Amino acid sequence: MANKIWILLLCILFISASASVQNKVTDNPADQLVAAINSNRTAGKASSLYSSPGLACIALQYIKRYQGDCTAVGGPKAEKPADSEFAETFAPNCGVEVSTLTPITGRLLGCQSEYAKPSEAFSNILMENEKSIEILHSKNHTEVGAAVSGSNGGGPYFWCVLFSNGRSNNSFVLEGHVAKISRPGCFSGANDECSGAIALSKTFHLWPIAAAGLIALAYAFGI
Ligand SMILES: *[C@@H]1O[C@H](CO)[C@@H](O)[C@H](O)[C@H]1NC(C)=O
Ligand SMILES: *[C@@H]1O[C@H](CO)[C@@H](O)[C@H](O)[C@H]1NC(C)=O
Ligand SMILES: *[C@@H]1O[C@H](CO)[C@@H](O)[C@H](O)[C@H]1NC(C)=O
Repeated sequence: MANKIWILLLCILFISASASVQNKVTDNPADQLVAAINSNRTAGKASSLYSSPGLACIALQYIKRYQGDCTAVGGPKAEKPADSEFAETFAPNCGVEVSTLTPITGRLLGCQSEYAKPSEAFSNILMENEKSIEILHSKNHTEVGAAVSGSNGGGPYFWCVLFSNGRSNNSFVLEGHVAKISRPGCFSGANDECSGAIALSKTFHLWPIAAAGLIALAYAFGI
């Protein structure tokens, strides 16, 4: 009996450990996408980019502009928000001071009906051709912001990466230096734990806890 109590205690420890791991800042697919971008850049001898929460929040606004319409992302019906929307809509929605906007030096945009892991979104959705790799490795960028969002609690899933050439601490400055977190969707750079805001990945992340819970129960009942 004493043995079983020990195992039960260990299981409870394991459950709380996995729960706290999930609370880490990196539990955000947009942050993971920025990490993939920076590691690919540095492997290719380009600089690592500053992860700007202001720029990333704007990337999420950029996605919302498509209103869930994947067909407007690429192909013959492709649309692009007007440059003026950055100052008129995106920045105010994010609490980014309009006077601190700097030029967008590149963008990567992708959309797919199924949710993909950030590393897969990077290589399978965003890096579709030579042009994308050229944009990714451009020396013109100094900072990056990424966002991902589903639509209506499910797919399609949009991924957006914006690059700029501003100086980290005086471009895309947030009023009061606080990012306005909005849901649905996740954006990078804001120390925001967010995977739960993407419907599908939530199920993936809860799975280890559920399994540990079952094991603990099995031991508790002496099965
Ligand atoms: C960077 O990403 C591109 C596109 O996925 C890939 O072809 C290339 O091998 C990657 N480079 C490194 C060093 O990982
Ligand atoms: C970098 O900026 C220069 C000058 O604006 C432009 O001509 C060039 O195409 C840019 N490079 C990339 C890879 O976008
Ligand atoms: C901005 O960053 C530069 C270098 O990263 C630093 O020297 C400067 O003090 C910073 N300015 C402010 C207002 O934080």
